[in-house]
Amino acid sequence: MNSPTREWLSKLPKAELHLHIEGSLEPEMVFEKAAKHGVKLPYSSVEALRKAYDFSDLQSFLDIYYRGADVLRDEEDFFDLTKAYLKKVHSENVRHVEIFFDPQTHTDRGIPFEVVIRGIRAALENASKDYGMSSELILCFLRHLSCEAAEKTLKQALPFKDWIIAVGLDSSEVGHPPSKFKRVFDQARSEGFLAVAHAGEEGPPEYIWEALDLLQVKRIDHGVRCLEDEKLTERLVAEKIPLTVCPLSNLKLKVFERLEDHNLKKLLDRGLRATVNSDDPAYFGGYLEENFAQTAEALKLSREHVVRLAENSFLASFASEQRKADLIQELREKA
Ligand code: ADE
Ligand code: ZN
Repeated sequence: MNSPTREWLSKLPKAELHLHIEGSLEPEMVFEKAAKHGVKLPYSSVEALRKAYDFSDLQSFLDIYYRGADVLRDEEDFFDLTKAYLKKVHSENVRHVEIFFDPQTHTDRGIPFEVVIRGIRAALENASKDYGMSSELILCFLRHLSCEAAEKTLKQALPFKDWIIAVGLDSSEVGHPPSKFKRVFDQARSEGFLAVAHAGEEGPPEYIWEALDLLQVKRIDHGVRCLEDEKLTERLVAEKIPLTVCPLSNLKLKVFERLEDHNLKKLLDRGLRATVNSDDPAYFGGYLEENFAQTAEALKLSREHVVRLAENSFLASFASEQRKADLIQELREKA
């Protein structure tokens, strides 16, 4: 039988490259941290909060996501948040993670940049020691805010440059094209950061062109709308630009009406370097393995498709060439 079983998927070595750490904040932890800090929540229970996770589009999700993050206030909170995510994905044999964080969501509430990054970093170091899991951190600028605000955030990041591999761009896409952030991405690349950007999630293929040409990104986050533009698709294939696709996110935010309608298989069959990721697992109903399992079933993916997705996750990562080779070797042994 060639179809992937849950057990086989679980054991398969894989990497996650599109994960917002604030999006791994489970309702139970929202309540725990709210109690710790004396924050009054507008929900009576964990179940009531979870029920509110019913979204019509990206913005309806972001409104709740930014509100949830308000309970994260000290270094221990960011440590606990990251530790819980890493523990969960370790159980799914995730061997390498690249984690987004949104400093502006916190610094705009008076939480110092260093509180956020020190908490996250400590958990990543523990995961390296305890699980042999490798990791990178990607600082995302919030695109609904100004380029000047992003530049201020970049300045705050410079003392922690060695802990951050890349800058990214997230939040409300439509109306906030990559071109708005050309200046701060130029600065970031001149400081040695790599670049990625969310593009073509809800926004048009033109935003993917801009991310490539103006921001000089190495990967496109989401990018599922690329197939609307044949020339763009040809370029992404020719240049092997990875797409970090998030199927359950796309379903919950109504980018696709049904998982059966998702274009992941088409992306793969077209020769694109597509990967599977969870985006904001606490909000979208599943961590990485669940994304693989539900998508494989809905699209009738073969084991060969899934192995290609796992291999792509390593090839698309910012891990060293040696680490990539080691992980691909592990994959070959388990597949
Ligand atoms: N921030 C967290 N998740 C996001 C997504 N899917 N798109 C844009 N910004 C985000
Ligand atoms: Zn995202």
